[in-house]
Amino acid sequence: MKKVLHIVGARPNFMKVAPIHRAISERDALEQKLVHTGQHYDVKMSDVFFTDLGMPAPDIYLGVGSGSHAEQTAKVMLELEKVFASEKPDLVSVVGDVNSTLAAALVAVKMGIPIAHVEAGLRSFDPAMPEEINRVLTDRISNLLLTPSADADANLIREGLEPERIRLVGNVMIDSLLAAREKALRLSTLEDMGLNARGYAVCTLHRASNVDDAQVLTGLLSALGHVASRLPVVFPVHPRTRKRIAELGLGASLERTPGLRLVDPMGYLEFLALTSQARLVFTDSGGLQEETTVLGIPCLTVRENTERPITVDLGTNLVVGTDPVRIRQAADRILDGYEKKGRVPDLWDGRTGERIARLYEEFLGLGKAPRRATESRILSSTPGAEHHPV
Ligand code: UD1
Repeated sequence: MKKVLHIVGARPNFMKVAPIHRAISERDALEQKLVHTGQHYDVKMSDVFFTDLGMPAPDIYLGVGSGSHAEQTAKVMLELEKVFASEKPDLVSVVGDVNSTLAAALVAVKMGIPIAHVEAGLRSFDPAMPEEINRVLTDRISNLLLTPSADADANLIREGLEPERIRLVGNVMIDSLLAAREKALRLSTLEDMGLNARGYAVCTLHRASNVDDAQVLTGLLSALGHVASRLPVVFPVHPRTRKRIAELGLGASLERTPGLRLVDPMGYLEFLALTSQARLVFTDSGGLQEETTVLGIPCLTVRENTERPITVDLGTNLVVGTDPVRIRQAADRILDGYEKKGRVPDLWDGRTGERIARLYEEFLGLGKAPRRATESRILSSTPGAEHHPV
């Protein structure tokens, strides 16, 4: 049997891999193993997601932990090289844009192992964003570029990547959301927190550009304080953000801000229960921009750009930047009843994992014949270094 190795490392990876892992397991045509780099290691940043998503524990855990970008990327590379040498995968599957994604792709390409990148083609066009570097480089060296929306295909073509490497498969993270939504709504999360449906806002902040810069972070927290003066705001605090709040001595004043509730990072189901019934989401997360679009909940993205423009063009997302005055105005407008309506993008339908599993089989020489002449070149070739596109 041909073998696929999935690489996960950080929180946003888990909900992307779970549906692919499940689909491969159901189809039973490929062997697969799950490798966790340990980039995220806290129970609340990692373990709880495996339970909530019904994903088996990782087959291999590398425990690389935190560090500078170079340290973290290098540690993942050193450990993965040993894993790839002993496991001899036929395909390495990576998702998203975290340091573990790029590290895995770099090791695989140099060992002549084909790579599939899920969530390929997203671009913020902001080179100061570490994730943008991870995206561009991972795409450049991946054999299969699996995209969530047509704008991503266009970005890849513009960069000169061969169309036969690109497949529009839809948004795999939405598979996890749709599969978990009912279960999440049965939880007593709102009741336990004394909240009413559509009567509160949810905030997440963790981007380095927002939380590492004292002035930006202070401005964002002041805008948040304004929102909290109008309705309760639940703010599950990412470890990076908690550290910065403590360093800047802002903890006590935030704890005293009326309406604002700082809580620990939440599990997948609990958080979905919260976001799916919120009046407003205030965030710098990439995934939440997509989730709120599917849930039909207004989202204010407190960043200067987004790599997910479809959530603005079709969905409920507004990119409002980091100026507190502008954020307050945008929040007031929504809370005064002027909500942006949206629709769900095509192929964000809960079946992306299945499409990806089928493509992996075809790529590895199993399954049906390719549909188009251009596809035959990539799908019928025996994967290996001599067929690598770079
Ligand atoms: C990483 C990703 C980012 C993603 C985010 C989701 C990169 C470059 N960044 O950012 O794209 O949106 O994950 O959460 O890969 N920490 C803990 N416990 C943990 C993990 C981290 O306390 O389980 C703390 C450590 O102090 C660490 C800091 O958080 O230094 C940052 O972690 P890191 O993995 O470097 O980046 P994130 O900010 O989490």
